[in-house]
Amino acid sequence: MDKIVIQGGKPLFGDVQISGAKNAALPVLAAALLTGGTNTFHNIPDLMDIKTIKKLLCSMGAQIEGDETIQINVDKIINHTASYDLVKTMRASILVLGPLVARAGVARVSLPGGCAIGARPVNLHIKALQELGAHVELKSGYIEAKAKKLKGADIYFDLPTVTGTENIMMAAVLAEGTTVLNNAACEPEVVSLADVLKGMGAKISGAGTDTITIKGVTSLKPTEATIIPDRIEAGTFMIAAGMTHGEINVIGCNPHHLEALINKLRDTGMKISSIKGGMKVSSGKKINSVDVKTLPYPGFPTDLQAQMMAYMTISGGLSVISETVFENRFMHVSELLRMGADIVIQGGNAIVRGVPMLHGAQTMATDLRASASLVLAALVAEGTTEISRVYHIDRGYQTIEKKFSALGADIKRIK
Ligand code: UD1
Repeated sequence: MDKIVIQGGKPLFGDVQISGAKNAALPVLAAALLTGGTNTFHNIPDLMDIKTIKKLLCSMGAQIEGDETIQINVDKIINHTASYDLVKTMRASILVLGPLVARAGVARVSLPGGCAIGARPVNLHIKALQELGAHVELKSGYIEAKAKKLKGADIYFDLPTVTGTENIMMAAVLAEGTTVLNNAACEPEVVSLADVLKGMGAKISGAGTDTITIKGVTSLKPTEATIIPDRIEAGTFMIAAGMTHGEINVIGCNPHHLEALINKLRDTGMKISSIKGGMKVSSGKKINSVDVKTLPYPGFPTDLQAQMMAYMTISGGLSVISETVFENRFMHVSELLRMGADIVIQGGNAIVRGVPMLHGAQTMATDLRASASLVLAALVAEGTTEISRVYHIDRGYQTIEKKFSALGADIKRIK
């Protein structure tokens, strides 16, 4: 298994190009199940999760060519099962449920089960699909859904679920009549999926607000679209600039998607300004501590909580980081403690007292964003840090060691 080895203490300077967003690319690729003909999608990131969804879609009959630009054709769906083996490696495989039922009238998708950051049920996906008229049964660990024709409905999500909103939006585009999704997720990735579906001929309004209206159509046509930039990758590099006392031009990002983070980073003393094609981000003289509470978009993203915590471990004061989206998303804390951080967990809050210096240590990545926080901590730690189980990071960050190395970090991957 690969390891990442980092010698800390180098300030980072230069330009970094942000890749396409994993969480936007996954639902867009799943949406290809809704049409015959060839869809073309640009700016697809080179990540393990993308390889996983390609494998899953191919098993269902998709013909796929290309990497950064993908041409995907699903003229015929030949298999309706998303197996446990694939779903357990990537929970987002659940995104095939809605499109399969909408187009083929049947789907069999493994229940994802728990993961490192909590139980993460899919009950809201299932309930909404039933409200669209699907008959759903749970059998031997699989969701089995059937519907001759889905029917539009007024749906209320108890929680604003991102993939739940995406799944049901994809189911509703081919339903008979109008569907209204209330308390829908407002994330930019939901908006980007709605835009792609509209390119296919779907009738959707309100994406980006908590009420999305979908008027069903009888069929869709293939489309061409470009995946939006990864706001979580961009945010990770922005935090790196502040932590290492550097200055990074984060190119190809969308600042409007990052307002909650930009606001917090300015409070820590960082300077952030718009430049052509992105943002110039530099550290302040000292790091002010700030409190952070994760919330659904447009609140502070849970996917940047671990990275922000790494930043706060070296602040000049006390920071309270509250995780409200997932119940068990502090797995990185025990690894940060091994590097000399001072953090106490109380329920859903982490109380972080800034220390003058972190120290290199042997650490283990536990989930995707937790591993990014270890990379950030290692970049400022005194001495050498080894991060094992790097496959977590490869799920969501494209060539992270190359991007950091180009900015001046002493970072290498050991096979
Ligand atoms: C997506 C993102 C993930 C991000 C998360 C929150 C993708 C592929 N993944 O995950 O990176 O961290 O949004 O921004 O886009 N919930 C239920 N029942 C459900 C569905 C969700 O109780 O049926 C709960 C979850 O346990 C969690 C909350 O709702 O507490 C939000 O989760 P959700 O938005 O669904 O996360 P994902 O879509 O899985």
